[in-house]
Amino acid sequence: MYEIGQEEIDAVTAVLRSGQLFRYRGGEGGQADTCEKRLVELCGCKYALVVTSGTAALICALVGLNIGPGDEVIVPAYTWLASAGAVLNVGAIPVLANVDESLTLDPADFERRIGPRTKAVIPVHMGGRPSNMDAIMDVAQRHGLHVVEDACQAIGGSYRGRRLGTIGAAGAFSFNQFKTISCGEGGALLTSDRKIYERALYCHDMGCTFRNHAGTLTETPFLGNTFRMNELQCAMLRVQLDRLDGILARLRERNGWFRDAVRAEQSPLVLAPSADAAGDCGNNVTFIFDNAGTRAAVGERAKAIEPSCYLSSPIDSGLHVYTNWTVLLNQQGGFCPAMNPFLRAENRECRTRITADTCPETLDILARTGCIGVGINWTREQCATIAGALCRAAREVVGG
Ligand SMILES: Cc1ncc(COP(=O)(O)O)c(C=O)c1O
Repeated sequence: MYEIGQEEIDAVTAVLRSGQLFRYRGGEGGQADTCEKRLVELCGCKYALVVTSGTAALICALVGLNIGPGDEVIVPAYTWLASAGAVLNVGAIPVLANVDESLTLDPADFERRIGPRTKAVIPVHMGGRPSNMDAIMDVAQRHGLHVVEDACQAIGGSYRGRRLGTIGAAGAFSFNQFKTISCGEGGALLTSDRKIYERALYCHDMGCTFRNHAGTLTETPFLGNTFRMNELQCAMLRVQLDRLDGILARLRERNGWFRDAVRAEQSPLVLAPSADAAGDCGNNVTFIFDNAGTRAAVGERAKAIEPSCYLSSPIDSGLHVYTNWTVLLNQQGGFCPAMNPFLRAENRECRTRITADTCPETLDILARTGCIGVGINWTREQCATIAGALCRAAREVVGG
């Protein structure tokens, strides 16, 4: 979350005063409905459903597509654990594929990892970076696979003019504390497919056969979960949605200043490739190095030159790196054996084994990558100072 102010306080206070905290039974046409309308307008899709988390949005998307036991879903080896966790939550098996130097799913490796049980793929737009959607959609279409975009870290970003989350059959956003906009915890499912939307409605609201809108649904109901957002969260989210394009504009401007400053300096730094630089959310300036040692040495030297220069590496990002997903490596996919997809009879023909050696190329790329997290309030001078320190460090460590 980059910004929060009086507008959020006023919006939440108004809901508290109204006493209508529930989105249904009197809350119709309120904050949750308004957020969904705004998301549809903003992203250019037919339906949006706000839910309690990005994980819940991914689960609703997978349930919407009828993915479950017996199915494999390809997931990048660099993402938050929840991308793979959502697959297990619906009883299916995540199969990992490498990312490329853009830090998003490598389309060629995605294609190599497709097996007879593969039903879907989840490209993840990591850190606001768009995945190579043309290539991913092409592979998916040729193999008859569904595409669920995990845009939890990339709300507002785009790929070739289309908002992330609207290119595949469904997309997922997260509004937890660490995302571009937030309401504490929350998420949203996007889709233009009526069937996915209706099934997601059931999934997020215990089947919702008892709601006013149930009569308008044509899909067969089934028992779901309770993933409903409340009006307090949505009051805050509504204000945050109004802030989104302004936040992205400021991040992208500062990201541009930073890259300009690097270009002006003559240094051996190499920007990581992007599937669509214009659609990147701008949260990070990302560099790729020859090896992990050089990346670490440049980072250390840059910090010594300028303490506000912090070059982080995705290899150090804990549960975003598959080798730290111990519950998956240990096949602890459910609370008891019968509910553990790794052990279920339906998944016997799925590829259930994930080891530290499953995606070595990803580990190599993550370790060679360094990121500067862009400050939303940075001045042009600050960008030049931090970029200058990084360039100088790179010249000293690498030469040139
Ligand atoms: C890439 C990615 N996918 C999924 C999620 C899950 O979102 P949430 O924490 O809202 O469940 C996150 C959140 O951190 C994420 O970063």
